[in-house]
Amino acid sequence: MTEPTTIKTGSSEKAYTTLPGTVGPEVVDIRKFYADTGMFTYDPGFTSTASCQSAITYIDGDAGILLHRGYPIDQLAEQSSFMEVSYLLLHGDLPSATELKDFSWTISRHTMVHEQLSTFYRGFRRDAHPMAILCGVVGALSSFYHDSTDITDPKQRMIASHRLIAKMPTLVAMAHKYSVGQPFLYPQNDLSYTGNFLRMTFGVPAEPYEVNPIIEAAMDKIFILHADHEQNASTSTVRLAGSSGANPFACMAAGIACLWGPAHGGANEAALNMLREIGDVKRIPEYIARAKDKNDPFRLMGFGHRVYKNFDPRAKVMKATADEVLKELNITDPVLDVAKELEHIALNDPYFIEKKLYPNVDFYSGVILNAIGFPTEMFTALFALARTVGWVAQWNEMISDPEQKIGRPRQLYVGQTARDYMPVSSRIG
Ligand code: CMC
Repeated sequence: MTEPTTIKTGSSEKAYTTLPGTVGPEVVDIRKFYADTGMFTYDPGFTSTASCQSAITYIDGDAGILLHRGYPIDQLAEQSSFMEVSYLLLHGDLPSATELKDFSWTISRHTMVHEQLSTFYRGFRRDAHPMAILCGVVGALSSFYHDSTDITDPKQRMIASHRLIAKMPTLVAMAHKYSVGQPFLYPQNDLSYTGNFLRMTFGVPAEPYEVNPIIEAAMDKIFILHADHEQNASTSTVRLAGSSGANPFACMAAGIACLWGPAHGGANEAALNMLREIGDVKRIPEYIARAKDKNDPFRLMGFGHRVYKNFDPRAKVMKATADEVLKELNITDPVLDVAKELEHIALNDPYFIEKKLYPNVDFYSGVILNAIGFPTEMFTALFALARTVGWVAQWNEMISDPEQKIGRPRQLYVGQTARDYMPVSSRIG
């Protein structure tokens, strides 16, 4: 325990304990602040507020560090697999060979979805956005597993977590198949988690599908890079929804809804659309000028991050992966030329330097996913697929935390003070 922090409010001074983390800034414990002072703290967007304790992911935004359970993201992306990282996030340590085999087997046993769930898809418009479909079908899973999910039982929580990790690739692939009018493909469990997903997305029942190992490895890496990111908006949403004791499948639907926004997971789709709109390196200065113009709401999508103020370590791996995939597929994509030049110009522009705006994970992921053959609308759904493991790991951690309480922020009220109701006949105007 370190020195208490004194907070002066008006004429009174109170000492508050500071809680040290294992790394990172200390946290002032202000749980008694309202009782002591009758005041709330004000922090829109939670820029200075820790909402929970967590042992899953650590980010040092100034140094560009991202650790999952202590392991650097670049080591995990280069050397492990998405199944290994999923086990690590859920259980706290890397699995032994047997644990990994058992875990992968367990996940593969949950890949099918209830046959009735496919009828939900048919209710959507053919051109429905995959994230709209996912909000619906993942939420609908709660109706299949409501009575069988006692969230106070760690075993049942783990089964729900396995189901979610296993079924997301099936549900995401089905969303794609529905939009292109092809039949849904059942999972094939002798394939890897990622190979199975690629087959369900790009295969057809009429022909055998061969998984390209380079694309499979790149896709697996993309999943690892998106697996968790501590208390981001969608994870905080999952935690907040889960804090009331809600069904975990419904909580994940809440996370999916939050992820969809262009300031969060929707940025990968928005970034590629922006690169396509720019179209030619000659037009980049025009877009840079717009991004800097205070009167123009335009932002360079795929740039900037709430936490990373040096570089996004995920973007580095993503950029290298983009080069690998484009080489393997023998693609020369003009969008990549625009991306590289835009990055170069922005990184040398005083506006972006001063505001510490660097390319984030979404800047290059779109280029890779486009090359693999995913339509732009699918990009955020792929992010949701990968982030599901982070959501369930954080949800499990929250439910098992003895200090967990229902999330209930306070507010600074700026509305009308109390006034009396007037019958409509007495109102003027
Ligand atoms: N282009 C131009 N200016 C920007 C950008 C951008 N992409 N991002 C931030 N700024 C400016 C912003 O206008 C503001 O300027 P000023 O101080 O003069 O008002 C300053 O930088 C700080 O911006 P902010 O909105 O207060 O920063 P934030 O921490 O609240 O927002 C962000 C972070 C990611 C929402 C924001 O940078 C953004 O909108 N980026 C584009 C969307 C994007 O790529 N999102 C993906 C995030 S990474 C994946 C994920 O976690 O989901």
